[in-house]
Parts: sequence; structure tokens; C-alpha cells
Amino acid sequence: MSDKKSMILNVNGNNHQIFADMNEPLLWVLRDDLGLTGTKFGCGKGECGACSVLIDGDVQRSCRFPVAYAAAGQEIITIEGLGTAGNLSKLQKSFIKHSAFCCGFCTPGMLITATGLLKTNPYPSRDDIILAMNNNLCRCGSYSNIIEAIEFVVKEY
Ligand code: FES
Ligand code: FES
Repeated sequence: MSDKKSMILNVNGNNHQIFADMNEPLLWVLRDDLGLTGTKFGCGKGECGACSVLIDGDVQRSCRFPVAYAAAGQEIITIEGLGTAGNLSKLQKSFIKHSAFCCGFCTPGMLITATGLLKTNPYPSRDDIILAMNNNLCRCGSYSNIIEAIEFVVKEY
């Protein structure tokens, strides 16, 4: 017998009815059930930040976040909710301007984490930015460009 339950997830402003085990990581529901594959699977252990999403404005690791908690009336924002082609967010534009990625695998998590930072602290210092981004890993080593891209948004907008 399946333990799957019906739940409503609010993702990027839209409600979705899903059927999932209560403890299933949100990441897999986003990717496999909703087709939102911008959120990446890296380590699966909460250590790399590739799977970061915003839940009620807080940055969370969706590989470790049970879907039932996310479904409890909270607003989930994924990378697909930050901007669209032709209507990118300031951070997305700045990442492009500063070549803040190479392969791009870490980029959704980086952008979500930076967005969460600027929501809580619109004028972070360079040290604040480094601290906030410290637990997002980039195998391509694009760190300095990522920091520059975030600083540009803080200073220029
Ligand atoms: S995949 Fe979630 S933190 Fe690495
Ligand atoms: S751009 Fe390749 S992992 Fe960060």
C-alpha cells in the first residue's frame, strides 16, 4: 500500500496538487513531479547548495527538506520563479554581465542564495556576501566572478 498523500504546493505563485510521501525531499517533487529541473541535485546531503530554493523567503536545501513541511501553506520560489527569458532579475543579468558561471550547474543555487541574501540585507558588505555564499560550492571555481556580480547589483541598482 502506498503512503503517498495528497498535498498542495505553492511554487512560483501557482498551486499544484501533488501525491508524495510526507518525507520525500522537496527536490524530487520539484524535478520529477513538477518538471522544474532548474533546481539541481549535487550532493544530496545539504552540503553543496545546488538544490537551494526559497521557502517563505528563507534559503533552504530542498534535498533535505521534507515536502510535507514545504506544503504547509508556504511559498516556494525556484530558479524558474526568479525571472524569465526577456525578463531576467537584476542578479541574473549581473551574473551574465560578470561571467559568473562556467558550466552553470551551481548557478541556480547561487542565484537563489544571493536573492535570499538581498531580500534580508539589500546592502551587504563584501564580507557579508562571502559569508552568505560560503556554503554554495562551485566546481568550476567561479567564486570571484559570483561575488563581483552580487556586489554590482548592490552598488549599481
Ligand atoms: S544537493 Fe542539496 S545541498 Fe547538495
Ligand atoms: S559554474 Fe560550474 S559548478 Fe559552478
